[in-house]
Amino acid sequence: MDRTLVLIKPDGVARGLTGELIARLERKGLRIVAMKMFHMSQDLAHRHYAVHKGKPFFPGLVGFITSGRLVAIIFEGPRAVEAVRQVMGATDPVKADMGSIRGDLGLDIEHNLIHGSDSPENAELEMELFFEAGEILGR
Ligand code: RTP
Ligand code: MG
Repeated sequence: MDRTLVLIKPDGVARGLTGELIARLERKGLRIVAMKMFHMSQDLAHRHYAVHKGKPFFPGLVGFITSGRLVAIIFEGPRAVEAVRQVMGATDPVKADMGSIRGDLGLDIEHNLIHGSDSPENAELEMELFFEAGEILGR
């Protein structure tokens, strides 16, 4: 079994789509093993998005991700990283397939509702960034 980190971004929470997004991932067959709602600090945002530092969209990305409450979830399942990315759809909601979260529910690349780790290695790092061992089922 693999595990991966999902963030319901501030636009998803503000639009009242938290339940819809979680439901889509659960219906796929993924299981929640940790979950919490919080407001991301500037420091955590800089660490989470460190690979994008220096890119033109970085200041907007940090501003947005720290703009309101979000929900962090760890999902477990076979090939969980790939499965979550499939259910999310492509980064740009207007290019994402219909049937995916971003394809069905988004319009704007900078407000694209959800984050999912992009590799098993980054999933491990991101799970550690957002959760203490004691907050995760089975750890
Ligand atoms: P995420 O990290 O949020 O799950 O999204 P992703 O893997 O699909 O996309 P990534 O390349 O990691 O980019 C992180 C977030 O930065 C914003 N972005 N804006 N304006 C732009 O050209 C641009 N490119 C990326 C998106 O909100 C993306 O989710
Ligand atoms: Mg990414």
